[in-house]
Amino acid sequence: MIDFKLPEARLDPLLDLIGKYRNDPRSHKLDLGVGVYRNNDGITPVMRSVKLAEARLHEIQQSKSYLGLTGDISFVDNLGRLLFGDSKATIAGAQTPGGSGGLRIAFETYHTAFPSGKVWVPDPTWPNHVPLVESANVATAVYPYFATATQTLLFEQMIDALAKAPPGDAVLLHGCCHNPTGADPDADQWQAIVELLLERDLVPIVDLAYHGLGRGLDEDLAATRTLIENCPQTLIAASASKNFGLYRDRVGAVYMAAHDPQVATRGQAYFGQIARCLYSMPPDHGAAVVDLVLADDALRDNWRTELNEMTQRVQSLRQAIAEHGASLGLQFVAGQYGMFSQLPLSSAQVQSLVDDHAIYIAPDGRINVAGCALADAGQFVDGLEKVGFSMNKAT
Ligand code: LMR
Repeated sequence: MIDFKLPEARLDPLLDLIGKYRNDPRSHKLDLGVGVYRNNDGITPVMRSVKLAEARLHEIQQSKSYLGLTGDISFVDNLGRLLFGDSKATIAGAQTPGGSGGLRIAFETYHTAFPSGKVWVPDPTWPNHVPLVESANVATAVYPYFATATQTLLFEQMIDALAKAPPGDAVLLHGCCHNPTGADPDADQWQAIVELLLERDLVPIVDLAYHGLGRGLDEDLAATRTLIENCPQTLIAASASKNFGLYRDRVGAVYMAAHDPQVATRGQAYFGQIARCLYSMPPDHGAAVVDLVLADDALRDNWRTELNEMTQRVQSLRQAIAEHGASLGLQFVAGQYGMFSQLPLSSAQVQSLVDDHAIYIAPDGRINVAGCALADAGQFVDGLEKVGFSMNKAT
């Protein structure tokens, strides 16, 4: 009999929180953990435009037969139009299971073109980025991005580190709403990043997970559009799971924007080939719904309005946390974008927030601002005070 030895599996620090929070019997618990939007009643609602599109889909859908390796091409085209407008680049794309599926395909596609290239990831970044890169057999390198203790973007250090990357390496960039810090480069800094990428022949890979949840649908795309107009090849993993509230339906796409149409054609074929070995074809329902919303003027307008309401709510929550937490130095939260900010909390403080105060946040000190009700901002700040947190004490 052989010994079937499985080493301990890695726990995902974010998804692990879902179960822990659910099983916590305390009624005053707060969930600022995993990155889902909640309304003031603590619910992640099905958007009205999505409900309408689902009803329509139920009426008109005639078949659930296969669509092909790259999924629903109408969805890919409509989402691509929303993202890239009338870009001069040739855009290849494939539907993927969420933005994570898109990232995995982007990393494998990159690896096919540059077998010995590395992917540079920001420090800090979403905890699943490095495992995703490594699962595509690509090595990672790290560039400094943000100092949590001082809430500053380490722009010069970032540029210095990337200036040492060898040609052909890839740079993972958060297109907007940086996860976990909520801090993005400004327009001039993005321009400098583009110039560096061109000078060093580096390949941008853009994670667009929170499009529309920061400054607005168009504003959140400015950096990605600058990248694709200037860089000969850009890989983009886009999620529609968050901005359409379709989390569990896993709606996403991977794109290659290439200045040489032949490269784009090749890219498209690789997307399909890689998908075939990972999952064959992406799940259809969510993408079919998004496609209906984006293709219909009235539904699209409704969706834009709803998304705008969500984004406004996130900004009000940021404001409330900043105001309640002014004496702790939390004013910076109001000036950041997207669902997250990262606080310089020790592991013991994070543990005490969970154990003693029923406040769930990510182990790296990330808070999902969109997770709490307006009325709970005070409770959250009280919890921080009780665990001895203050920005003035952070080093
Ligand atoms: C998050 O960062 O919390 C979300 O993107 C959910 C996830 O898959 O980790």
